[in-house]
Amino acid sequence: MATPSSSRGTWNTKIGFILAAAGSAVGLGNIWGFPTQVADNGGAAFILIYLFCCLLVGFPVMVAELAIGRRTQKNPVGAFKALSNGNKFASLIGYWGVLCGIMILSFYVVISGWTLAYVFEELFYYFNYDTAALYVGDLGNGPKNAAFTLFFMLLTILVVTGGVSKGIERATKMLMPVLIAILLILIVYIMTLEGATDGLAMFFMPDFSTVDGSLLLSALGQAFFSLSLGMGALITYGSYLNKKQNIVESAAYVTIFDIGIAIIAGLLVIPAMFVAQAAGVQIFNPETGDLFSSVTLVFDVLPEMFHNVGGFIGMLLGVTFFILLGLAALTSSISLLEVPTSYVIDEHGVQRKKAAWLVGGFVGIIGVVVSFELSLIDLFVEIFNEVGLPLGGLMICLFLGYFWKTENALLEIQDGYPTVNDGKFRIFWIIMIKFISPVLIALVLITTIWTLFFA
Ligand code: PHE
Repeated sequence: MATPSSSRGTWNTKIGFILAAAGSAVGLGNIWGFPTQVADNGGAAFILIYLFCCLLVGFPVMVAELAIGRRTQKNPVGAFKALSNGNKFASLIGYWGVLCGIMILSFYVVISGWTLAYVFEELFYYFNYDTAALYVGDLGNGPKNAAFTLFFMLLTILVVTGGVSKGIERATKMLMPVLIAILLILIVYIMTLEGATDGLAMFFMPDFSTVDGSLLLSALGQAFFSLSLGMGALITYGSYLNKKQNIVESAAYVTIFDIGIAIIAGLLVIPAMFVAQAAGVQIFNPETGDLFSSVTLVFDVLPEMFHNVGGFIGMLLGVTFFILLGLAALTSSISLLEVPTSYVIDEHGVQRKKAAWLVGGFVGIIGVVVSFELSLIDLFVEIFNEVGLPLGGLMICLFLGYFWKTENALLEIQDGYPTVNDGKFRIFWIIMIKFISPVLIALVLITTIWTLFFA
């Protein structure tokens, strides 16, 4: 249902919201980010810490964001203003979220552009157009990157101009099972190849010697990124929720779904890396022991594997995989754009269409710069993802725990979950939001800043 700009949209069905939120969560963070982080950071040791971050920090923060959103029915800036009687400091949390949304989207669209380019790479390779395949497959080609980035940005803008769309809800519902099916088929195939079990060993056997402050930050940053937390994406999505929805139950589904897809993607990508290694591709730097170019790993190793499968089937797997990866990225990028767009709509009275084009165009320009200067991806990941999102999460916890107060949030959560104040969830959530999560996030952030500047 198209929503008139004057009234805020709402999700049509319970499952529609869960799928939209899961669509926001499941994206490049799961299929591109998680496996490369696991490989970089001691395999299963990283996974354990990551799970801990998702369940103990991420899930409670997700409930917090949804409660703030549904209570205020506003974008992050408006939401914090509304709950604090216009307190300037509180609205900064919202502004920080809007900024993180813009900056994360600006590199997200570049990587998403690569996934689209690789659809063509697989096709060209199959039809023996080798020069064309090399051209679209070259991650360092600025003009080509910029073109695909802008195209992806355009798709994102078009969806967001339509508002809280039934089309997206329906599309997500159809696409997610297909994505899982393709991932599973690929895993089964890759397991038959030489070297795959080495990858499994890395995935399941923890190497705790790699655990240090920076690994904790990576795991926490990855948890926030993958669950779309810390910048108000779920405040915004929560603002379109009706009072009948059980926020806690929905957050639990989204968290579990997101973790599940990350693990499945890891079971594919890590063994695939070792298969490539067994076939003679060097994936580790012999001097440092680090992975070569972890940013591009998915785009180096997976195509290699599809080419090894060869023939029509190899091409079909490759094309389908990159289309689905692109669509998973799209359902996330729309939520990244929706945050600054809803801010411009609500706070500056701009019409939705105009707002989406304005913000999207602006992000597109930064995206073009990133397309030519790829080192910005690492920089933006460090500032806005690894530090920015946990910092946002910390402020959300402190604001909710000590300013708005957990009792008030629980009153909001009671709508759709009438027994919330009787069960164990209440006490778990209060302890997490008021004490454990903020302390954990603060410790990790302080350690990082310490190692960056003083160690
Ligand atoms: N969760 C998305 C992913 O895993 C990225 C994202 C981050 C989306 C923050 C919205 C907000 O790819």
